[in-house]
Amino acid sequence: MLSLVASIFAFLCFSFTKALPFSNESAIQVIHTFPNETWIENLAIRKNGKILCTSINRAAIYQVNPYERTATLVHQFPFADMALGIAEVEDDAFAVVTASLNGTSAAPASARMWKVDMVAWEHGSTHAVELVANLTNVGLPIGVTTLPDNKRHVLVADSAKGIIWRVNTETGAYDVAIADILLTYTSPLVPLGVNGIHILDHELYFTNTGAGLFGKVMITANGSAAGPVQVIAKNIIPDDFALAANGTAYIVGDSTLWEVSPAGQVAVLAGPSDPAILGDTSAHFGRTAKDSAVLNIVTNGGRTGPVDGVVHGGQLLAVNVRALS
Ligand SMILES: *[C@@H]1O[C@H](CO)[C@@H](O)[C@H](O)[C@H]1NC(C)=O
Ligand SMILES: *[C@@H]1O[C@H](CO)[C@@H](O)[C@H](O)[C@H]1NC(C)=O
Ligand SMILES: *[C@@H]1O[C@H](CO)[C@@H](O)[C@H](O)[C@H]1NC(C)=O
Ligand SMILES: *[C@@H]1O[C@H](CO)[C@@H](O)[C@H](O)[C@H]1NC(C)=O
Ligand SMILES: *[C@@H]1O[C@H](CO)[C@@H](O)[C@H](O)[C@H]1NC(C)=O
Ligand SMILES: *[C@@H]1O[C@H](CO)[C@@H](O)[C@H](O)[C@H]1NC(C)=O
Repeated sequence: MLSLVASIFAFLCFSFTKALPFSNESAIQVIHTFPNETWIENLAIRKNGKILCTSINRAAIYQVNPYERTATLVHQFPFADMALGIAEVEDDAFAVVTASLNGTSAAPASARMWKVDMVAWEHGSTHAVELVANLTNVGLPIGVTTLPDNKRHVLVADSAKGIIWRVNTETGAYDVAIADILLTYTSPLVPLGVNGIHILDHELYFTNTGAGLFGKVMITANGSAAGPVQVIAKNIIPDDFALAANGTAYIVGDSTLWEVSPAGQVAVLAGPSDPAILGDTSAHFGRTAKDSAVLNIVTNGGRTGPVDGVVHGGQLLAVNVRALS
């Protein structure tokens, strides 16, 4: 009985909680600032609400507790200079891609995929991180997303080669899933093609950074193209993005936040060159009932494009998109 009363009380409190689980209701809040020169590239949300952040220049993965606003190093990857895309492949276990640097791009044959088991990590296991595959044919792996009908298979966006690979995380086997001219880059000035990839209702949505576009393609259960690649929006400078359940995309990049409707209508919610989202690299909606309306954005702190000369450590931000619309 007591527990029933407690549950009802908890439910009522819950219902009256505002969209953001934090006391400060401003539209863009800083949850954590990493030390200067820490470039946060991508993120994944655990089912317990804790947030895993990958760092390009530290080749590391950190866990942020957004409620306590603390960050902990989870793992420093060997044989790598960069940790990039991350996606959940099994219950609380995540595929992460890494690569080594050569100049300003990835060293040939340096891409790797790892699996990080957060439950094992919490138990102090030395086997929490294992190598899935040496992705020797992959150029620069950035975006990673799981296939909804087969979560142990992931798609990997290769920004250097402008193709999307499919990786079987159980065997390490990989092959080309989608190749299309719209995934490649057109200008040598920004040698990055397909970058962020996410799936909703059998459609794979993607950004192409060099070509400045956002598009989609219908896919089969195994991630192959099942129709033509289509452009949804152009003339943006996109890095990664988050998809809301209603199909609206929230695209980050160039210290800007764009809202793109399924029909391709583009609204600028913040920026261009907004210091509050300096160096925004990736975004993800919260995953628990409490924070599902929170758009978590990670940043490189302006390393790739300072605003007013300012560069600081990468950040995790909690953004209330409704307050910006
Ligand atoms: C809310 O957060 C913003 C930025 O993080 C800060 O400028 C502002 O002072 C905070 N407001 C309150 C009431 O704490
Ligand atoms: C690094 O890149 C340079 C050109 O940018 C190339 O000549 C060299 O072979 C590359 N090194 C490796 C190890 O791939
Ligand atoms: C990956 O490459 C390393 C050497 O760089 C090798 O020791 C390891 O066995 C390879 N692993 C797989 C799964 O191919
Ligand atoms: C993926 O699915 C398509 C059709 O659904 C099939 O033609 C293709 O052989 C499959 N590829 C793999 C690698 O399973
Ligand atoms: C779509 O979902 C987002 C996130 O929940 C919300 O902010 C936005 O208002 C919704 N758009 C429409 C047209 O319903
Ligand atoms: C962060 O590092 C950059 C260059 O690496 C430097 O210019 C900047 O002043 C530093 N910012 C802070 C807040 O220390």
